[in-house]
Amino acid sequence: MTKLTPAQWVQDELLAGRHLRPQVEQTTAYAPANIALSKYWGKREASYNLPVTGSLSVSLDDHGTHTQLCVIDAPEHQVYLNGEQLAPDSGFAAKLATWLGLFTPADVKLRIDTRNSIPTAAGLASSASGFGAMSLACNALFGWQLDYTSLSALARLGSGSASRSLWHGFVKWQAGEASNGHDSVAYVLPERWPQLRVGILTVSSASKAVSSREGMGRTVNTSKLYEQWPAQANADLATIEQAIMAGDFTRMGETAEHNAMSMHATMVAAWPPLVYWQPESVAAMQKVWQLRKEGVEVYLTMDAGPNLKLLFEAHNEAKVQATFPQVDVIRPFTSQVHE
Ligand code: PMV
Repeated sequence: MTKLTPAQWVQDELLAGRHLRPQVEQTTAYAPANIALSKYWGKREASYNLPVTGSLSVSLDDHGTHTQLCVIDAPEHQVYLNGEQLAPDSGFAAKLATWLGLFTPADVKLRIDTRNSIPTAAGLASSASGFGAMSLACNALFGWQLDYTSLSALARLGSGSASRSLWHGFVKWQAGEASNGHDSVAYVLPERWPQLRVGILTVSSASKAVSSREGMGRTVNTSKLYEQWPAQANADLATIEQAIMAGDFTRMGETAEHNAMSMHATMVAAWPPLVYWQPESVAAMQKVWQLRKEGVEVYLTMDAGPNLKLLFEAHNEAKVQATFPQVDVIRPFTSQVHE
């Protein structure tokens, strides 16, 4: 069987029998950002953004992306980020146009107004919530009535981690096996953890030198340490899922921190080396480890950037804030934010 391109798969299978033209003039949607506790690092297939392993994240409540779509009469899509129009060939606008091209006829043009409620300087992966919100907004604009599982596959085609950004709470993205990725989708876990806190610690606003897409490719292709990653990532994913079910914060936090540090080790061993940390990142890590020595249970995780995300529980919130006055504390399970 010849392999379908992503556009063929989206139009002929995912959206089979559904509208490819907008059914209303305007829609809005919101999707939260997410932080992986067990990371996605490395693709087994690039055009479909298919991961080597599964991953598991927690969504960031009201820190995410609000998107408004309007049908316009114009030669090109118009993309606004936080109120400012982006050049069509700039990174995010170009990625959005490519993704929209998977299913929109050439004469359909949209004005896309995307607003991140995540401080831009935090360098959080806004592409995850961006493509999550786009998938929800398109579902409404085109009248597809797709379920969230299908929307998760669509969001993944924009950015892998976007597959996890459609839900609040703990979300697991299963790697899947199919070459067209129909089984590489995320789903929400039933467990809730009202005491869990995620602290966003912006230590440096230095812009990301290497995108996660490029960084992953370089690591998979050149890092000898990557050979051990899939086995560890799969084991960590299972451990974290069990720890969530058991409400075992120590096991969850230790495994999440170890997982992030191991991912960074694979990056450091790439060539040319990939070091996302800044001196301020390392200084903040040492403060976290010092806090732990003093009996304050706080763990860290990091993604493809210099900033830290802290994991702790409500009873340690004051102590974490005293050590890191600039920390932005998120309560993932006490959300008032709903669709
Ligand atoms: O979805 P992408 O291509 O931005 O990659 C995300 C990669 C990490 O943030 C480092 C890990 C993850 O699982 O979110």
